[in-house]
Amino acid sequence: MDYIVAPSILSADFTRLGEQIREVAAAGARYIHIDVMDGTFVPNISFGMPVIQSIRHCTGAVFDVHMMVQEPGRHIEAMKKAGADVLTVHVEACTHLDRVVNQIKEAGLKAGVALNPATPIQALDCILDQLDMVLIMTVNPGFGGQKFIPYTLDKVRALRSVMESRGIQADIQVDGGVSGANVPALMDAGANIFVGGSSIYGHEPAARVKEFIQIFEEYRK
Ligand code: DX5
Ligand code: ZN
Repeated sequence: MDYIVAPSILSADFTRLGEQIREVAAAGARYIHIDVMDGTFVPNISFGMPVIQSIRHCTGAVFDVHMMVQEPGRHIEAMKKAGADVLTVHVEACTHLDRVVNQIKEAGLKAGVALNPATPIQALDCILDQLDMVLIMTVNPGFGGQKFIPYTLDKVRALRSVMESRGIQADIQVDGGVSGANVPALMDAGANIFVGGSSIYGHEPAARVKEFIQIFEEYRK
């Protein structure tokens, strides 16, 4: 299993965004998690294509764009142009999820689908074999710095087990309240991509990224 830490720039210092992205990438982060919020699907508004386009030149890391946006299918081409590599949409925000997933893949991007904490994993039964990644939200989306919701761990475990029984090898990403303290339990449950916002950008981001990578290495032993 490929274990990846994905720092979320939502918690970065926006006055030094480029620098803060280079810092985590140099420390070994292969993904940069980019939270796009529209003020409708979630209460908060963050940033969009112009910001993504301007940070694209900072790093060759994978741009993992988490669309907390109502009907995100409208923005696939623009997100691709801005520099997205992985585009994750919420099942709760798509009237025609199958169409949106296909459009993401036709655009040449990797397709992820996110589930809010209260959305059961069965919502993905019909589409699971088409996905590159499932994002299990471990907080209610909209804000950084929230507390991990414990029951979401069971969702990760159940999803990995369904995937294994169906021979599906997609990534499982977890996002919200993730830190060194709960990564081992999340790895045990079957998650392999770990988003860290406040736990990474809160204090010495490069050191925090290295800690995540250290946990992955310890786990493999
Ligand atoms: C929350 C976002 C997260 C956020 C995580 O809606 O999707 O990516 O940045 O922040 P932390 O790790 O602080 O919970
Ligand atoms: Zn996110």
